[in-house]
Amino acid sequence: MTDPPWALLAELTHACPLRCGYCSNPVKLVSRSAELTTAQWSEVFRQAGALGVVHTHLSGGEPLLRRDLPDLVAAAEGAGLYTQLVTSGAGLGERRLAALTGAGLRSVQLSVQHADRATAERIAGARSFAAKERAARLVRAAGLPLGLNAVLHRGNLDDLDGLIRLALDWGADRIELANTQYHGWAARNRAALLPTPAQVERARATVARWRERLGNTLELVWVAPDLVDATAKPCMGGWGAVSLTVAPDGTVLPCPAAGSLPGLDPPNVKDRELAWIWRESSAFNAFRGEAWMPRPCRDCALRTTDYGGCRCQAYALTGDPTRTDPACRHAPDRHLVDALVQGAARPPEYVYREGGP
Ligand code: FES
Repeated sequence: MTDPPWALLAELTHACPLRCGYCSNPVKLVSRSAELTTAQWSEVFRQAGALGVVHTHLSGGEPLLRRDLPDLVAAAEGAGLYTQLVTSGAGLGERRLAALTGAGLRSVQLSVQHADRATAERIAGARSFAAKERAARLVRAAGLPLGLNAVLHRGNLDDLDGLIRLALDWGADRIELANTQYHGWAARNRAALLPTPAQVERARATVARWRERLGNTLELVWVAPDLVDATAKPCMGGWGAVSLTVAPDGTVLPCPAAGSLPGLDPPNVKDRELAWIWRESSAFNAFRGEAWMPRPCRDCALRTTDYGGCRCQAYALTGDPTRTDPACRHAPDRHLVDALVQGAARPPEYVYREGGP
């Protein structure tokens, strides 16, 4: 019997006022007219609660662009889910936040790009810093837990001190320092985003220094740069193991990037119950467990901790999602990543997202 999922990533919309070059959403975004309705999302939350999900991340794009967001929060809350808003902060005013907390919102995760306003807005490709600052202030005033999420890359890894000070200044409870995942749009910017090994080494030392200094004051989460570290990441905690993603149009995926995989045939909540999708669908069983693993993963002691690494990355780099993740130092295709890492020296020039879905 398959264990139930713990978390649901609800991508309410792909629309977003920011244009970040590191965006891991697909190159082809779901149009606004194809988004699930309020009633359809409410049914997704009901089914998720019945299936055993305990936590939902209301994400996007920018979820605040959904006018019905308070209704969606209320529906998720009513289904027994802990709701976290994952936002850029753009559009989070006092009234909006009051409506969301009134509907049962439990916590907020705010994206930040850099501690320096001008650099942050250059990375985001949009004016956004003041809105984030205000959003952080309002969230703290409302008494909600506040987390910051900073996607790390060559353009901000050397300023972790600034990002951590920003988290302290803004009263955050945690900051997630998440090295870029090169999926979707971010793959187009891989050459501009990939850090040098020396940058990663310095950043890791900075995190260790701050952890020692801060103790429990601020939780520092370091999401490792798998390509530079030559270690496969335990992507999603294993395929179809702990979480599922529902895209804006109701497509259900084992991870946010899986829509890119050939032949996956992902199911949709409009056609099937979430419980069937989780337990029975071919998409969720494609790389579940260990039976699919090639060598050297199949015989490797790490297979129970890295779960064979990332299928989407294996596909993006080799054209075959069943290959060993080339991030791993033992992968037959590791030379592909070595060439990328050795080439990480140019100043970052981003290709920004344009126009929205
Ligand atoms: Fe899809 Fe890693 S992002 S398996």
